[in-house]
Amino acid sequence: MSTGRTRLSSWQQLVEHQRALSGRRLRELFEEDPARFKALSRPLGGILLDCSKQLVTADTLRLLAALARECGLESWIRRLFAGERVNATERRAALHIALRSADPVALDGVDVTREVKRVLAEMGRFVRGVHAGRIRGATGRAFTDVVNIGIGGSDLGPRLACEALAPYAKPRPRVHFVSNVDGSAIASLLARLDPASTLVIIASKTFTTAETMANARTARAWLAGRLRGGAAAAGKHLCAVTAAPARAAEFGVSPERVFPMWDWVGGRYSLWSAIGLPIALQTGMPRFAELLSGARGMDEHFRDAPLERNLPALLGLIEVWNVSFRGAASRAVLPYDERLRLLPAYLQQLEMESTGKHATREGGRVDHATSPVVWGSAGTDGQHAYFQMLHQGTQEVPADFIACCRPHHRLRGHHGILLANFFAQTEALALGMNETEAEAAMRQSGMAAAEIRRLLPHRVFPGSRPTTSILLDDLSPRNFGALIALYEHKVFVQSVIWDVNAFDQWGVEFGKTLAGRILPELDGDGPVSGHDGSTNGLINHYKSRR
Ligand code: F6P
Repeated sequence: MSTGRTRLSSWQQLVEHQRALSGRRLRELFEEDPARFKALSRPLGGILLDCSKQLVTADTLRLLAALARECGLESWIRRLFAGERVNATERRAALHIALRSADPVALDGVDVTREVKRVLAEMGRFVRGVHAGRIRGATGRAFTDVVNIGIGGSDLGPRLACEALAPYAKPRPRVHFVSNVDGSAIASLLARLDPASTLVIIASKTFTTAETMANARTARAWLAGRLRGGAAAAGKHLCAVTAAPARAAEFGVSPERVFPMWDWVGGRYSLWSAIGLPIALQTGMPRFAELLSGARGMDEHFRDAPLERNLPALLGLIEVWNVSFRGAASRAVLPYDERLRLLPAYLQQLEMESTGKHATREGGRVDHATSPVVWGSAGTDGQHAYFQMLHQGTQEVPADFIACCRPHHRLRGHHGILLANFFAQTEALALGMNETEAEAAMRQSGMAAAEIRRLLPHRVFPGSRPTTSILLDDLSPRNFGALIALYEHKVFVQSVIWDVNAFDQWGVEFGKTLAGRILPELDGDGPVSGHDGSTNGLINHYKSRR
C-alpha cells in the first residue's frame, strides 16, 4: 500500500519544479538576487538561520509550504501541543513541550505541567543539597563526582548539554557519563574515582535497558565493595531517573532518590526532564531553567509562526526537499564549536531514530525516501579529513554549519580563525571554482602552461553544494536550549511530510531480542548451530578464542 504522499498535487509540482531547477547554480541565484540572504535568512532571539545557500528559490519555499499544508502540518502541530496521542503505535502523547511550558498542558484532561513543576522542585532541592554538601555520601564526604549511567536518550542529551555548557559548570561536582556496555568504559572511569565522594545516577526510562542495567550493577558492586556498610552504604550513593520507579526501588535506590519521568516523554526528547539531572548538577538549577526557557521560546515560535516564517518548518522542509526531491542520502552536521562536538551524535539519534522508518503512520509502505544518514564532527577538524569529498566527491552531501559569534574563552586569535574557516567553507561549497577561475589562479601563482593543463581537472570545484548556516550569538543555556528545540521540531515537520511516526523506535528491538537469545549461547558448551552460517561461524570462532 502506498502512502499517497507522492500522489499529492503539491508533491508532483515539486517534482516538476526540481526538474526545472536542476540546471540552476547557487552562484547564479546569488548573482540574480542581491537580496537573497535577506530573503532566505531568519533571525529569532539569539539565533540566525541562513538558508540562502540551499538550492531553493522563493517558488521552492512556496511549493514546500503548500506541501506542508496539504499534509496537514498546521493541524499536526496543534495536535502535538494539545497532547493528542501522536505516537499512535505506542498510543502515547509526545509532550516534551510540557517539560518547558509556561502554560498548562492537558493530557486526558489533566494538566501535566503541575507534575513537571513538582519534579523540577524536587530536582532543585536535590541539586542544591548536593552543592551545599547537605546531601552527602555514606562516609559523610560531599559528592565531588557524578556518574550518569544511561544510553541513547538517557545519555546523549545530557552528555551533549554538559559539554556545551561546560563554561557554566560549578567547580563541583564533576559530571561523567557511561553508556557503552563495553566494560572498558566503566572500568576506566571508576578506576579514577573515589567511591566515598561519587554519586551514581541510573538514568533509564524503562529501567530494563540491558547496557544500562549491566553498568548499574557494576557501579553498585563497586560502591558496595569499597564502602564500609556494603549495600546499605551503596544506596546512599545511588539515585535514579525513570518512568518505572518500582524497578528502581527493587534495584536498591531509595524512593526519595528516584526522580520520575513519564511515558509521554520520548527518550530522545527527554533532556528537559529529570534526565537532565546531570546538567542541573553541573550548572545549577537557574542555568537549567534558562535552558528550558530557550526551548520554550522555540516551542512558542513553532506553534505560532506562519509556516513561511517558521524556523523549524523551514529547516525540516528544506531537508525534505534535499532528501525526497533532490536525492540526498546523508546530511553532515558540522558544528564549528568544540563544545558542540557531540551534536552530530545527538542528532543521529534524534533524527534517525525518529524518521528512519519505512511504514506510514497507518501501517502502509512509504514510497519516498525518509531519514538521511546524519553524520559529522566539529570543525575545523573535519576539514582535514572528509571535506575533500564534500567539495569534490561525486555525491552531494548537504550540510548544517553551526557556530557562535562570541566564544566563552578569552584566547586571542582563535575565534577569528575558526569563524573565517566556517564562512570560507560554506562559500567555497556554494560557489565552487570553475575552470576559468582555477586556471587563472594557477597562472597567477606562476605555474607553467603544461602543468596548468595537467592539474586543471583536479583544481576545479563544482560548487552548488547546499548548506544551512546557523549562527548563535553565544552558547548560553538559553541559545543552546533553543537550538535543540529547533532540531526537535524540524524532525517533527519531516515526520509529518513523510507520514511516519516520529516517536516510536521499533527498529531497535529486533537486534536487542536476538542479543538476548545469543547471550546464554555464548556461555554454553559446544558449538552453536541455530543461526545462519556466518553467525554460527563467528560465534564459534569467538568461543574457541576467548
Ligand atoms: O534502544 C533504543 C532506546 O529505546 C532509545 O530510544 C532510548 O533512548 C534508549 O534505548 C534508552 O532507553 P532507556 O532510557 O529506557 O534505558
